[in-house]
Amino acid sequence: MQGKIRIHAAIVGACTLLSAGTIAAAGLTVQFPPETADFKSGPGVELAERNCKTCHSADYVRTQPSGKPFAFWKVEVEKMQKLYKAPIADADIEPIAKYLTKEYGDGK
Ligand code: HEC
Repeated sequence: MQGKIRIHAAIVGACTLLSAGTIAAAGLTVQFPPETADFKSGPGVELAERNCKTCHSADYVRTQPSGKPFAFWKVEVEKMQKLYKAPIADADIEPIAKYLTKEYGDGK
C-alpha cells in the first residue's frame, strides 16, 4: 500500500515537471529545445500567425533560403492564396510579405 502511494506521487510529480518544459528526476535533467515552430516576433507577426499556420508550421518559412527580397516573399504569399487556396485577404498580402522580408528575408 505504501509503495503504491509513493509511485503515484512520483508520476504526478513527473507530469508537473514535464509541463514546465524540464524534467529533473534522479539527477537526470532534460531540457527541451526552444520552440522553433513559431514566427519571430516583429511588426505584422499577428498576420502571419493568423494566416500562415492553419496548414503548416512556421518551419516552412524558417527553412527557406535566407536573404530573399520582398518580391520573393510576395510571390510566396500569393502562391499560398492562389495555388493552395489559403483564405488570405488581398489587403494582407503585402503586409505579410513585408513582415517575412524583415524577419526572414533581406530585411529591406
Ligand atoms: C491553405 C493552406 C495553406 C496556408 C494557409 C498557407 N500555406 Fe504555405 N504551403 C501550403 C502547401 C500545401 C505547401 C506545399 C507543401 C509541400 O510541398 O509539402 C506550402 C508550402 C509553403 C512554403 C514552402 C515553399 C513552397 O513554396 O512550397 C512556404 C515558405 C510557405 N508555404 C509559406 C506560407 C506563408 C508565408 C503562409 C501565410 C501567408 C502560408 N504558407 C499559408 C499550404 C498553405
